[in-house]
Amino acid sequence: MPEKHNINKSNTYTRKKLIGDSLKRNMIYGIIAIKGGVGKTTCTSNLAAVLANEFGKRVLVVDANFSAPNLGLHLGIVEPENTLHDVLNDKVQITDAIYQTEFGFDMIPSSLMNKKINPFKLKQKISMLRDSYDVILLDSSPNLNDEILATMVASDKLLVVSSPDFPTLSCTMQAVKTAKTKRTQIAGIILNRVHNKKFELSIDDVENAAETPVLAVVPNDIKVLEALSKSIPAALHTPLSDAIVEYKHLAACLINEKYEDSRFKSKLKKLFGGGKIRKHEVNRAVIRDGVKNRKI
Ligand SMILES: Nc1ncnc2c1ncn2[C@@H]1O[C@H](COP(=O)(O)OP(=O)(O)O)[C@@H](O)[C@H]1O
Ligand SMILES: [Mg+2]
Repeated sequence: MPEKHNINKSNTYTRKKLIGDSLKRNMIYGIIAIKGGVGKTTCTSNLAAVLANEFGKRVLVVDANFSAPNLGLHLGIVEPENTLHDVLNDKVQITDAIYQTEFGFDMIPSSLMNKKINPFKLKQKISMLRDSYDVILLDSSPNLNDEILATMVASDKLLVVSSPDFPTLSCTMQAVKTAKTKRTQIAGIILNRVHNKKFELSIDDVENAAETPVLAVVPNDIKVLEALSKSIPAALHTPLSDAIVEYKHLAACLINEKYEDSRFKSKLKKLFGGGKIRKHEVNRAVIRDGVKNRKI
């Protein structure tokens, strides 16, 4: 899969013209954390990549980190002509700020120039695209100000990115508390950059403190950094790594589908009873079954 993409791609992206709408109500997820560097942008781009390439979904990612945007840089999109800032300032139509990435999903970048905007227009502008995509992912600002609040109110559900240490957990608790005041449902926590060390907080520690289920445990993986250096989502760089397989399980849960990990090592683990079901796997199953039961 990685060979398909030209990583030397500054300026190879094109502006997207939308064709065809569907009438289905689709989902807008905000990816939040009140802390920089925990992996919001990485989660956004990799979830988008697996939803589009593994599950064939129409996906849009939006850089809602207005004052320090970098989703575009993760995806090799630099100096776009039209940005979300222009959309919020009513200078361009939102459809004219959509760029087709070479990774199977679309993107709305923000401006690296510090332009004044009203972030709360995000909800109304993004709603206009709801029927054109199966999933829209909003990459949020880490600052507890109008920027993150705008993402919270524009989202149907939130995914909170955290890591297994006390300082990040305290930010996660704050994020959950703030989201609750905005009455936006929290789908769950993505526990990122996990080293599987005894000194790290456990899933139970995180869930109990944040009163929110952990839906994914993404290992720390140097390949994620390697992918970033090539401006390509790790999902396309190392599609079978543990980190990316975890994103695939998470993506499947979000769209109520199943993902079968067909890697030899996983099959072997299952065969020899090493495949003890872990808490976050149970949480995903509960969400999936809950959705199924509601449908009946
Ligand atoms: N699972 C992971 N393993 C290793 N590095 C990661 C992982 N997730 C994110 N990173 C790295 O952490 C840094 C911060 O990630 P980023 O997504 O930019 O955070 P945020 O958007 O929250 O500021 C980046 O260098 C990214 O490549
Ligand atoms: Mg970021």
